[in-house]
Amino acid sequence: MKFFIDTADVDEIREWNSTGLIDGVTTNPSLILKSGRQIDEALAEICAIVDGPVSGEVTAIDTIGMISQGKTLAKIADNICIKLPLTMDGLKACKALSDEGFKTNVTLCFSANQALLAAKAGATYISPFIGRLDDINIDGMELIEEIRAIYDNYGFETQLLAASLRTANHVKDCAIAGADVATIPPSTLGKLVAHPLTDKGLAAFLADWEKTGQSIG
Ligand code: G3P
Repeated sequence: MKFFIDTADVDEIREWNSTGLIDGVTTNPSLILKSGRQIDEALAEICAIVDGPVSGEVTAIDTIGMISQGKTLAKIADNICIKLPLTMDGLKACKALSDEGFKTNVTLCFSANQALLAAKAGATYISPFIGRLDDINIDGMELIEEIRAIYDNYGFETQLLAASLRTANHVKDCAIAGADVATIPPSTLGKLVAHPLTDKGLAAFLADWEKTGQSIG
């Protein structure tokens, strides 16, 4: 499963990219606002740090405007992926841009039928939002499983990019369900590493090693 980092914070991206564990970046208008940066400057800096796909989201709501903004964003760097909302205009823009060879990420997906339409529109990625479904007591992971089954039934090439991940269990469950990508906020990424038994076991190993009086190298 590929790990994308879900932020427009360049410092966070640079730090996590240095681990070699990050395969791409996703942003959205709220994350750009949070970054305090101009979108074109932020995306250009991010694209220079991370080799993988970097999603930048259009803000137009009409097909023509989405296509125009998408092409403007795509000029920033070769690894820009154009993010489009899952509306009828977004699907039409996705079809047009995908047919022209642009990478597209259809976002704000909350149903399997929406994901089916995005695949038929040629989306490179589909972004179902797990956490926001959980927020309204609908099982977000069920949507990931439904989309996986549908895409596998018909061999759709659209990659399932699980988004709105709030917990380490979301990441694990997405991997079990077969998501192609998980886009993970830095706060959740940090939760994946730590385990108290790892810390306890390492402390015990080091204490016992100290007693041997030995050193390596
Ligand atoms: O990539 C989508 C993600 O940023 C949304 O997360 O926590 O606002 O639902 P959240």
